[in-house]
Amino acid sequence: MRKKIVAGNWKMNTTLESAILLASEIDTRLADSKKNVDDVTVLLFPPFPFIHSVADVVNAEKIGVGSQNIANQPKGAFTGEVSAEMIASTGVGYIIIGHSERRAYYGETNEILAQKVDLALANNLDVVFCCGEKLEEREAGQYFDVIKTQLSETILKLSSDQMQHIIIAYEPVWAIGTGKTATPEQAQEIHAFIRNLLSEKFDDALADSVSILYGGSCKPSNAKELFSQPDIDGGLIGGAALKAEDFVQIIESY
Ligand code: 13P
Repeated sequence: MRKKIVAGNWKMNTTLESAILLASEIDTRLADSKKNVDDVTVLLFPPFPFIHSVADVVNAEKIGVGSQNIANQPKGAFTGEVSAEMIASTGVGYIIIGHSERRAYYGETNEILAQKVDLALANNLDVVFCCGEKLEEREAGQYFDVIKTQLSETILKLSSDQMQHIIIAYEPVWAIGTGKTATPEQAQEIHAFIRNLLSEKFDDALADSVSILYGGSCKPSNAKELFSQPDIDGGLIGGAALKAEDFVQIIESY
């Protein structure tokens, strides 16, 4: 059975104080929840400087903490960069790689992303690997090809053992922060396509074991319908993850 996962990507938001408050409120609301939230893996991805403080205030048995980025080099003279080894040494277990904002604003190519995935896995971090097409690629009907290339040049090169540590997030770029959500049918179509790519490259058992999350304007009002699709195993949440009430409602809607 693959894991149900709801992950909050806080992006470049919060301060030390508000990050601790947000994490504590999510922790308390989850502990008090009357819904069956125990079978959902909850992950928080705060900005680098707050990772340790956030990990300190949440119940580690219920909430995993991770980093939004790592360097594509192991160590050394790379001023300003943060390595996979550093992140792993703080005790957190997860990392987001391949987010469209990193691809678009920081020139992260599939080659760079593949290097980051290797470093993350070598340091025992589980990877949330993002893929997704831009609006013009969807309108031109190229979205299957775009996603196939994003995955073929990165995680589909891994071994099946390494794939046990990969979570995939499908985030159509046109749905991120725009309020425009993919319909459950549009998202399901891509999730099934991704699972089929995994079957072709590996086998059905592996394809069935990998969690594939949807991301892009996911909120309490649409989460339930999205998560009820057969190949959608949870969500990677941006804006709505910054409000404890909304984020926990999304978890509860599972
Ligand atoms: P929004 O939920 O704000 O659209 O962001 C989605 C996202 O990019 C999560 O990584």
